[in-house]
Amino acid sequence: MKSEQSVIADLNVATADRVLHEQRVIAFMDSSARRDFNPTVKTRYLNIGYWKDGANSLDEAAEAMTRLVGRTAGFCADDSILDVGCGFGDAAMLWSAEFRPRHIQGIDINPTHLETARERIRQNGLADRISCQRASAVELPFEAESFSKVVSLEAAFQFMTREKFFHESFRVLKPGGRLVLADIVPLPGKNFQIFFNAQNRYSQDEYARKMERAGFHAVNIRSIGKHVFRPYTDFIQSRLSLLNIKGWFNVTMHRLMSSRIDYVLVTADKPLQ
Ligand SMILES: C[S@@+](CC[C@H](N)C(=O)[O-])C[C@H]1O[C@@H](n2cnc3c(N)ncnc32)[C@H](O)[C@@H]1O
Repeated sequence: MKSEQSVIADLNVATADRVLHEQRVIAFMDSSARRDFNPTVKTRYLNIGYWKDGANSLDEAAEAMTRLVGRTAGFCADDSILDVGCGFGDAAMLWSAEFRPRHIQGIDINPTHLETARERIRQNGLADRISCQRASAVELPFEAESFSKVVSLEAAFQFMTREKFFHESFRVLKPGGRLVLADIVPLPGKNFQIFFNAQNRYSQDEYARKMERAGFHAVNIRSIGKHVFRPYTDFIQSRLSLLNIKGWFNVTMHRLMSSRIDYVLVTADKPLQ
């Protein structure tokens, strides 16, 4: 178990370090190398999809992942939802169309993502149901108890730190509200140095403890890795020509990486009192 001092050190990562880290995340997400990870055709999803029900494309798999998060969160007409790391807005638009919540507030640190998201939301006539603004997951510009649900789809492993985000999401959730994450953690015994920044590199047990320390109860962490990593890389590989050396390198690296990490669906509730 971690000492009280190291917990406090995790929560007090200097703002300058955090801003530098977020600038690196933005630069990586905007790079041409990153675009190779998400060869979507009809959508602009940035997650790698849920392939259990036989998706034929990354667009379909990413939609399936989005539906899984929406169902797990139990979205309904009364909900006021915060989507943290909203990317290009695809998930918010699907949830709005299929679950009809009252309002979805997306936030992201990446100005390019937000600009495109806002334009697409406007074009789809959803501007009165979905708003997007620039903000960091670890410093949410919202009053306490503003949302009935907080969700984050394939983004929390990038936050500096994820634990700070647990505390912030607890604060902005209404009593009885729910947090749902699609996230990435190290597999037991395989502490993968390259993938995670030091502050987010911990086991599922520690993950649950950190959520509980933030005040959440009924924490549930479920592995869905076998329906994510392998089918995703199989899909990417199936589209490669023999001469695409960079593509084969990326697939090999991805396979190596995903043998050391797990993809998890996380739920946690804020108590009523
Ligand atoms: C892998 S993408 C997933 C995007 C979207 N949820 C989807 O499924 O298409 C991760 C997103 O999280 C955003 N992000 C990373 N760190 C963040 C932070 N500290 N606060 C808010 N958003 C962040 C990135 O800019 C990016 O848009």
